Amino acid sequence: MQKPTFYVTTPIYYPNSSPHIGTAYTTIGADTVSRYKRMRGYDVWFLTGTDENAQKIARTAEANGVPPKEYVDGVVDKFQELWRLLDISNDDFIRTTEERHKVVVQDIFQRLYDQGDIYKSEYQGWYCTPCETFWTENKLKDGKCPNPDCGREVELLKEESYFFKMSKYQDQLLQHIEAHPDFIQPVSRRNEMISFIKGGLEDLCVSRTTFKWGIPVPFDPKHVVYVWLDALINYISALGWGQGDEKFKKYWPAVHLMGKDIVRFHAVIWPIILLALGVELPKTVYGHGWFLSREGGKISKSRGNVQDAFELIRLYGSDAIRYFLLKEMQAGSDGYYSEDALVERINSDLANDYGNLLSRTTAMLEKYRQGVVPAAVAPAALDREIAAAAAAAKKEVEDCLDRLDFSNALVAIWRFIGRANKYVDESAPWALAKDPGQAAQLDTVLYTLTESLRIVTILCSPFMPGVPAKVWSQLGITDRTELHTWDGATWGGLLPGVKINRGQALFPRIEEPKEGVTGMDKVSQAAAVPKEVDVVAAEEIAEEISLDDFARLDLRVAKIIAAEKVEKADKLLKLEVELGQERRTVVSGIAKHYSPEELVGKSVVLVANLKPVKLRGILSQGMILAASHEDKLEALTVSHDLPSGARVK
Ligand code: MSP
Repeated sequence: MQKPTFYVTTPIYYPNSSPHIGTAYTTIGADTVSRYKRMRGYDVWFLTGTDENAQKIARTAEANGVPPKEYVDGVVDKFQELWRLLDISNDDFIRTTEERHKVVVQDIFQRLYDQGDIYKSEYQGWYCTPCETFWTENKLKDGKCPNPDCGREVELLKEESYFFKMSKYQDQLLQHIEAHPDFIQPVSRRNEMISFIKGGLEDLCVSRTTFKWGIPVPFDPKHVVYVWLDALINYISALGWGQGDEKFKKYWPAVHLMGKDIVRFHAVIWPIILLALGVELPKTVYGHGWFLSREGGKISKSRGNVQDAFELIRLYGSDAIRYFLLKEMQAGSDGYYSEDALVERINSDLANDYGNLLSRTTAMLEKYRQGVVPAAVAPAALDREIAAAAAAAKKEVEDCLDRLDFSNALVAIWRFIGRANKYVDESAPWALAKDPGQAAQLDTVLYTLTESLRIVTILCSPFMPGVPAKVWSQLGITDRTELHTWDGATWGGLLPGVKINRGQALFPRIEEPKEGVTGMDKVSQAAAVPKEVDVVAAEEIAEEISLDDFARLDLRVAKIIAAEKVEKADKLLKLEVELGQERRTVVSGIAKHYSPEELVGKSVVLVANLKPVKLRGILSQGMILAASHEDKLEALTVSHDLPSGARVK
């Protein structure tokens, strides 16, 4: 039987500067939905690419003293490299300087001209090159670009141009939007577009004569095609529209994903081009919000507030970044990016919730059942509740992904992870293990946890494609591919008897901000988190270490002789400590729990042989131990009878 098809696109990005976290969001979203649809049995075509024929590209290249094509080649390599590092599974990458694109653009321009939808006139008005947008005088704001994210200088143009009769198709477009509630999403953007169109459409200037970089108008080559007309066509030129049409027939219509800034181009200009050509309209135009910096502005190169995406991947890994971005942007709203928040999510959601569920389950399987998954021989109401919660989570993820709501899909998965972690505490396997009469109950709990993890991992796989292989390896089911599929994510698929291989932490906790993060927001680096003694986990079995392992730690009594707040870091205190004859500086993330005055004079326990790290420019030589539970935290102290420098063993 032929598979159903699914075609998803990202905007094609301007390669005038390197990609960043903001640009990555749409591509990660499109990748997630592509992976999900593939898992659901669809034949997917996922397109991304670069929009190269813009005037601003010609200008940037000129400013850099290189020909435009040479300039974009270098930047396009960076886009492709970033997509590779982020595990983006695109099926095609279109560049608008490619011949396959140029022929389709010229063909379409010619057709529209021949049928009388494009006519020659003169353009007189304003142009914003950063936005590549024409503006009439009355739309300008204080004489500048009215785009709320731009506000830059506009240029006065007076040139011979070709125009596209947008107004002719206005009513047809409105009818389509009204008849297809899913065409523009989310609904807030749909309403904006309806009122924009009702306000009346003007004919669009679709050619330029004052520069040469671009696709020449076929019948009048002193004109180049306006970059937005050229760019939008990529969605069908990449499928070979009018050039054999095989791929086009198979995959069109598309689901177009983009930021809210460019919905207007996709929900008005693009469908009108298609209406004029007699081509079916896209299935969906989905406009998500922006990633904003902590200070509130859109993350963008021109604002100078971007962080180096390559560096972030190197430090935190692609899966964690994908998770963070997809979780942080609520459907229809903007999201906030800061490295602090990224580190917090890694530690809480990925390390504590998901990672801990895996490590406590595998530890208990090893400790109580020699690493072999037992059968669920005695399911009670509580165990059945977990199975039902897994099925409910799966259904919710499906519903959310069908409406491109990545954030709530992750919320549903994490609700289930939270439920499973709570189930460990409720069923207290360590207590069951003490009573041989409860062996069947213990078997059931261990099976229930392993099966929960397997289902969670399947549900997570479109979001974090690097994770499943690690979990399958730990659960000992790497070769059992039938247990990795979406359809296989039904309770009871895992048969007992599987031998697990306990491995490393799935997401190691980030104990302090990683070194070397570049970009704007040094002040938003994560605060150092003190080593925590997790009292909940203490009831369970942590990984066993030998005495020799323990002896590698040099724990010492340290007396705090001075303490002060670290500027612009809510969580950090800078401590001067005495260690026998020696003085050291230690940066500690305990400012929320202690005032500097409270600490001076206390004797605490210091990990003295920890490799020094630089935090906010301060070299921290060691780490103070503290116990924590929920939001309480207490530094470990010793009585003053013990001199500073004394060993803790
Ligand atoms: N070249 C046009 C698109 C043509 S599509 C036919 C363009 N390119 S762009 O490089 O400026 O990228 C725009 C897209 O990048 C946005 O629509 C959005 O998808 C993404 N983002 C750029 N900055 C972003 C944020 N700060 N936050 C979220 N998405 C962002 O416009």
